[in-house]
Amino acid sequence: MLFASVVRILDLVVLGRLSSVPWRKQASNGDQDSAPLTFRPDGTFQISIFEDLHFGENAWDTWGPQQDINSVKVLNTVLDTEPAIDLVVLNGDLITGENTFLENSTHYLDQIIAPLLDRNLTWASTYGNHDSDFNLSRSALLAREQQHPNARTTNMLPNTTTAGVTNYYLPIHPHACPSCAPALLLWFFDSRGGFAFQQTTSSGARVGQPNWVDAPVATWFRDTNAALVAANDGQLIPALAFVHIPINASLALQDRGVDEHRQPGINDDVPLARQAQGWCPGGTDGGGCEYGGQDGAFMEAVAGTEGLVAVFSGHDHGDSWCYRWDGVVEGMAVEGKGVTLCFGQRSGYGGYGSWIRGARQVVVTMEEDGVQVDTFVRLESGDVVGAVTLNETYGLDSYPATPNDKTRCPTLPQASLPSPLLPPPYH
Ligand SMILES: *[C@@H]1O[C@H](CO)[C@@H](O)[C@H](O)[C@H]1NC(C)=O
Ligand SMILES: *[C@@H]1O[C@H](CO)[C@@H](O)[C@H](O)[C@H]1NC(C)=O
Ligand SMILES: *[C@@H]1O[C@H](CO)[C@@H](O)[C@H](O)[C@H]1NC(C)=O
Ligand SMILES: *[C@@H]1O[C@H](CO)[C@@H](O)[C@H](O)[C@H]1NC(C)=O
Ligand SMILES: *[C@@H]1O[C@H](CO)[C@@H](O)[C@H](O)[C@H]1NC(C)=O
Ligand SMILES: *[C@@H]1O[C@H](CO)[C@@H](O)[C@H](O)[C@H]1NC(C)=O
Repeated sequence: MLFASVVRILDLVVLGRLSSVPWRKQASNGDQDSAPLTFRPDGTFQISIFEDLHFGENAWDTWGPQQDINSVKVLNTVLDTEPAIDLVVLNGDLITGENTFLENSTHYLDQIIAPLLDRNLTWASTYGNHDSDFNLSRSALLAREQQHPNARTTNMLPNTTTAGVTNYYLPIHPHACPSCAPALLLWFFDSRGGFAFQQTTSSGARVGQPNWVDAPVATWFRDTNAALVAANDGQLIPALAFVHIPINASLALQDRGVDEHRQPGINDDVPLARQAQGWCPGGTDGGGCEYGGQDGAFMEAVAGTEGLVAVFSGHDHGDSWCYRWDGVVEGMAVEGKGVTLCFGQRSGYGGYGSWIRGARQVVVTMEEDGVQVDTFVRLESGDVVGAVTLNETYGLDSYPATPNDKTRCPTLPQASLPSPLLPPPYH
């Protein structure tokens, strides 16, 4: 009797847990496409990452709108060349907010997603430092995205004043069982930055925003991942993460040396720009130090989260390598199995630099004991460069070097732009 009622109570506990299984709560936002994302029947899932599209520059002359036409062409070329894309990720700096007008800032999104809607592709965004400015609001951009059922972008941490907007995860399920535990988790983090919407200081200057993933977001990431793993009978769930501004560890790795065969990719932004750059330690309002360390909690969460295979960033248009990180930086050592920090390929014609445009592709293949992650860059020329496998020997394996091509029809250098609104450095 006693045994039976204990069993019944346990049943109820288990049922209670099942009904609140985190991946069943997916469709929390009414506008979001609630169809579960699944692997293909062949066990693959392909992600196409467009980053630093920088739409909306110089609307007042012919140069700016021409850049957007060029960027749409990049989107179309890549999407035509990659027929098996399951999810598009827009990894920050969709729009150059310092150039846009209050009344139509977010309308540039429509130009970006038109090629996706044409192909009925679903997408998920992170926002970058240029997606926030005096005339451009992250929340308004999110609202514009969510008008479309194909948008998966959401905000699972509604405290926008502190945490940013694009903090959420997406579960990817096995093809045969969309209601089973996910075989892959995709995490999206908001590294913020840029300037506050419609705010100025007493002297009329724009108000800068912190440029790192906030510590409470790191805590949410750890707690939510732990809950997902617990709901999966304690089994790790492989994961990838996306965040616009790279963590400081990327700079520490660049300092160790980027080898063209072990970490193939362009390495022209040296030193690279990273989170908490330009802030003082403990600072809450800038201060102009070189680096404030406020991304420490997030870095520890990244290094310490078992199952996290790779983190993809943009921001540094002239860097496109992947580097396996052991979790060790000065003053911080986290026991982990290692995680690879990757740049994508800058995709847009706005913003600085004339490196050939493209989009990093990530192909995840389900395996008996986890996933295999392959990645390469599809260029606007149609060529593929930097194809690598992000396995345990990545960083030791040798690959062909990536050519450092510039786009044939070079855009004007930033210095010759007629805009008075663009202060360097322009990441
Ligand atoms: C936004 O408004 C400006 C100024 O009227 C105009 O030049 C620009 O083309 C508009 N952009 C969009 C995307 O509607
Ligand atoms: C913001 O938008 C307004 C209204 O279109 C425009 O007059 C102003 O120049 C813009 N401000 C900035 C800083 O871009
Ligand atoms: C677009 O995709 C959605 C979700 O994947 C699907 O339900 C819908 O039928 C598709 N529409 C077209 C026109 O293919
Ligand atoms: C949001 O952040 C502010 C500032 O840190 C804090 O005072 C407030 O309690 C937070 N609100 C919620 C609902 O967490
Ligand atoms: C940040 O990066 C710098 C530059 O490589 C490195 O010296 C330092 O140890 C790093 N600190 C942390 C906390 O990541
Ligand atoms: C990792 O992938 C590379 C490229 O496919 C391969 O040569 C290497 O043997 C793999 N390493 C392991 C441990 O499987």
